[in-house]
Amino acid sequence: MFDLSGKVALITGASRGLGREDALTLARMGADVVITDVLVEDDPDLETTAQGTNSLLQDVARQQGWVYSNQTAEEIRKLGRRSVAIKMDVTNREQVAEVMKRVKDEFGAIHILVNNAAVLDNTATIAKMDYKLWDRDVAVNLTGAFNCTKEVWPYMREQNWGRVIFMASIAGTNGGFGQASYSATKAAVIALAKTAALEGGKYNITANAIAPGIIGSEAANMAAQFRKEEYDRFREHTVFKRFGEPSHVAAAIGYLCSEEAGYITGTVLEVMGGMNLLTASLRA
Ligand SMILES: NC(=O)c1ccc[n+]([C@@H]2O[C@H](COP(=O)([O-])OP(=O)(O)OC[C@H]3O[C@@H](n4cnc5c(N)ncnc54)[C@H](O)[C@@H]3O)[C@@H](O)[C@H]2O)c1
Repeated sequence: MFDLSGKVALITGASRGLGREDALTLARMGADVVITDVLVEDDPDLETTAQGTNSLLQDVARQQGWVYSNQTAEEIRKLGRRSVAIKMDVTNREQVAEVMKRVKDEFGAIHILVNNAAVLDNTATIAKMDYKLWDRDVAVNLTGAFNCTKEVWPYMREQNWGRVIFMASIAGTNGGFGQASYSATKAAVIALAKTAALEGGKYNITANAIAPGIIGSEAANMAAQFRKEEYDRFREHTVFKRFGEPSHVAAAIGYLCSEEAGYITGTVLEVMGGMNLLTASLRA
């Protein structure tokens, strides 16, 4: 494992799924990790927040008890690292600025930002897409990543070191049927990563995107149950005939955040089990 001792990482949308696994992995690699998410278990407004995000999935997460923000911070503290869970909605610019400042004050620095928060539950063709959900997806998946990057940027510049990871998707590299808003925002964060890479160079800040295929998070596993045929087809399009695990994504992020990856910037690292290869191949 690469060594992240002495580094402070902040992960957005780290309450469950890939974000939670990223947090645990970076902590095992030695980093102190701040868990941020719009959903936090002991929030008295949890129910209203889940519904207010206008997301069916957030509500399901609350009902199913898939909210592990404090629990993850506790698991990280048991590893001997510093960790705290903070409620932060990436679309709320004042809140993002306050949280970044609080973390800088309490932890002394923010070296790593993982822009992981996103909404994944809007599947409709262009003809049927709801304008409100389009706007919501742009606000969370794209503007949210921009807000967090912009607010962390001065700290990274000042310390002359930084790692920013943007979670893209195969939908961002290939487009996605019934995923206009999701795929467009995921393509846009790739451009944002490349721009951050260009602007971050002279401050030793690297910025990269990760493009997963289908990875078994709670959200993806639930979608696979409800849309079985489609997901079976996706699975057949991987060269391994299986989906990825959250640990595959987390390991890729851990590497990109390491000192050793200091010359890698502006890239898109695909963690998709060759899902994009088979359409162009005669056999596999
Ligand atoms: N799971 C996959 O197959 C897959 C594939 C490609 C890309 N991705 C990307 O990986 C990331 C994580 O995916 P996942 O499967 O773990 O999804 P998920 O829905 O389980 O997790 C998303 C997290 O973001 C949080 N969130 C939502 N809106 C927020 C907001 N406004 N502010 C702060 N937090 C908010 C949610 O509460 C949740 O904890 C996403 O960026 C997603 O687009 C996932």
